[in-house]
Amino acid sequence: MHVISTLILPLLALTGRSASKAVFAHYMVGSMVSDEATKDIKDAIAAGFDGFALNTHSISSTDDWNINAINYLLDAAQGTSFKMFISFDMSWGLDVAHLGEFLVQFSNHSQYYTTADGKPWVSTYSGGSTSDSDWNSLFRQPLEDQGVTPFFIPDFDDWSGYPTGFFDEFTSVDGALSWEVAWPGAGSTVSNVSDTTDASLIKDAHAAGKVYMMALSSFQFKYLGSGSNWYRAGDTNLPERMEQILDLQPDFVEVLTWNDAGESHYVGDFWPEQIAGTDEAAYTDGYDHTGWQQVIKPFITAFKGNATDISQIKPEGDSPVGTLWYRPLLTSASCSNSITNYQQGQDSVNFAVVLPSDGYTIEVYSNSQLLGSFPGTAGLNYKSVPGLQAGGGQSISVLKDSSVVASANGTKDVLTQSKNSTCNWNYEVVGLSS
Ligand SMILES: *[C@@H]1O[C@H](CO)[C@@H](O)[C@H](O)[C@H]1NC(C)=O
Ligand SMILES: *[C@@H]1O[C@H](CO)[C@@H](O)[C@H](O)[C@H]1NC(C)=O
Ligand SMILES: *[C@@H]1O[C@H](CO)[C@@H](O)[C@H](O)[C@H]1NC(C)=O
Ligand SMILES: *[C@@H]1O[C@H](CO)[C@@H](O)[C@H](O)[C@H]1NC(C)=O
Ligand SMILES: *[C@@H]1O[C@H](CO)[C@@H](O)[C@H](O)[C@H]1NC(C)=O
Repeated sequence: MHVISTLILPLLALTGRSASKAVFAHYMVGSMVSDEATKDIKDAIAAGFDGFALNTHSISSTDDWNINAINYLLDAAQGTSFKMFISFDMSWGLDVAHLGEFLVQFSNHSQYYTTADGKPWVSTYSGGSTSDSDWNSLFRQPLEDQGVTPFFIPDFDDWSGYPTGFFDEFTSVDGALSWEVAWPGAGSTVSNVSDTTDASLIKDAHAAGKVYMMALSSFQFKYLGSGSNWYRAGDTNLPERMEQILDLQPDFVEVLTWNDAGESHYVGDFWPEQIAGTDEAAYTDGYDHTGWQQVIKPFITAFKGNATDISQIKPEGDSPVGTLWYRPLLTSASCSNSITNYQQGQDSVNFAVVLPSDGYTIEVYSNSQLLGSFPGTAGLNYKSVPGLQAGGGQSISVLKDSSVVASANGTKDVLTQSKNSTCNWNYEVVGLSS
């Protein structure tokens, strides 16, 4: 026994496997002012997050907007336990040989996320087409030579062999994140999100003494012109992934995203100057998604408290929390086929509700007509209820002893045809009020 523990404990300390669970939100770094940074940090702390993964697509020393934004965010978190790490957006062709010098400008800040033994975390969005030997010789080794050992958890799911043998191929990493598997597969068939890739990487990571960060997201929608009109189904994706995460017990979770307006999977605010000059406002303006935080916050508490099942997710107080979401346009609209994967669209009213105990009923309405009534039990309850109709009156009510104790009313009518050139499949998201 003695021999085993002296062998295993240093290994755990070395790799960060002993680190406690944490949940981050992917944050698109863009032009901003420091007051906006302060609000984002405050809101993310209130929503239960431990930190942001700062998606940076520039490492240029002359892009002041980028360097300023990162500094505003780090400084805004000063005095809190909220921390951040850089996630290099390799889809912008960043030069691997220059990532390190960008990193060290920030990695000794008090709010930069590190392992318990001081290694700064670094992640990516893609970069798996660059070889492991290049990641070692151009990124890791030069940093180590100057006394900075990165804790590297990239998303290399663009590597051709992914995920089989990932940790054998990439010795430069300390862990993995998988981006694409956060949603049901692309294509024309309706399917549930799969956790097969996550399950195999968790097993392989742990066998290699490394970590796995699992992605959690609501859905994906963008409408940026032919070839960039894109839907990844989200009728039940968020709560289904929560169920998978509690079941699989990854080391860390990253929510995609805090503020990506372009892909519509934001759960916090995004700022006008971050999307200036794009068509993103056309489908995100007035579409507040913060209602999803009502479910994310208790999920984070449950995950960090080692819950293994969604029945163990508890609201913070004695009242139900949760949210309703639906699309403001029927799938029969003539513009639908301009969206890739539109065949996966469902006309449904969706909910996720966290209840303090059994004995509740959840009613779902569209066009003020009852679509269904469902018994609610302690923990997270969710459903995609078919029957979304044109008109107003999309709502959910949570009842106890036949009286409504909480409700959420949609603020947007459902249309049969779009009134403008945007075929808007973004969700109307409304949190419960008691
Ligand atoms: C952090 O590192 C940078 C770059 O190496 C250096 O300029 C700066 O003085 C360091 N700050 C602290 C507080 O050590
Ligand atoms: C998705 O999962 C739900 C709940 O387990 C199930 O009812 C439904 O049939 C599944 N859908 C598909 C397309 O597999
Ligand atoms: C969760 O499990 C870990 C590992 O067994 C343990 O160290 C930690 O104290 C547990 N946390 C809670 C809140 O029970
Ligand atoms: C276009 O119409 C859709 C409804 O189909 C609406 O959600 C969206 O906000 C409108 N966009 C603009 C720019 O008016
Ligand atoms: C939703 O609308 C119903 C019916 O008008 C109303 O009784 C209820 O208070 C509303 N709920 C909220 C949270 O505004």
